[in-house]
Amino acid sequence: MIPDLDDGPATIEDSLALFRVAFGAGTSTIIATPHVSWDYPAVDAATVQARVGAINAALREASIELEVEIGAEIALSRIGDMSDAEIALLRLGGGPYSLIECPHAGGAAAAIEEMLRRLAGSGHSILLAHPERCPVFQSNPHLLPALVGAGMLSCITARSLTGDFGSRAREYAWELLAAGHVHAIASDAHDAVGRPPDLAPTLARAGLNDSQIEYFAFSSPRAIIDGAPVPRAPRVPAPRTRRWSLRRRPR
Ligand SMILES: [Fe+2]
Repeated sequence: MIPDLDDGPATIEDSLALFRVAFGAGTSTIIATPHVSWDYPAVDAATVQARVGAINAALREASIELEVEIGAEIALSRIGDMSDAEIALLRLGGGPYSLIECPHAGGAAAAIEEMLRRLAGSGHSILLAHPERCPVFQSNPHLLPALVGAGMLSCITARSLTGDFGSRAREYAWELLAAGHVHAIASDAHDAVGRPPDLAPTLARAGLNDSQIEYFAFSSPRAIIDGAPVPRAPRVPAPRTRRWSLRRRPR
């Protein structure tokens, strides 16, 4: 959502259009999570801090009552190249959690688990971004539960639930929700139209009820930013139309 930084809006006007959609969808706080990856080597903590400050000034100027907070979506492949201090400066909303991007490319599940455990072991609290969209997580269903069991949290993308990222991501997203392995749902917005920040309306369209939306889009993300204990998640039943339930053998 920071203009002209990574693959988001090109201009501040495009960013403001995005923020108007977010505000209209009921969002009051939104965390900027530009990619810290080898694709965008110019993105660092000092740049993100300065740009988020400029965005908040532009929001006040435009009378959009929205607060943008600092953050980043850090690629696992960049971690080895970053200092602990730099990682800490890019934590979500100044809280204790770093948003770590689950790799889209292949990779061995064991190696990914080892890297994440090592990062956690060096004192970083980890929120995993969109595991449901990543083939290595999809084909290694033990991976996310193991990481959550080790104390990490996970955040899926709202539009995975509506099928915008394909049927495999949709199926796995619902499976993770039903299994209680999801702690927050994010818009992963990139612009005002194609990938907009209409978080709560998207979740309603996906079929979540009001209390589920309140938990995944508001109260649990707030606890994550504040470093408070993440409240207990409401139950999300697996959709009845799921393929595995149709395939169940007759008794
Ligand atoms: Fe991502």
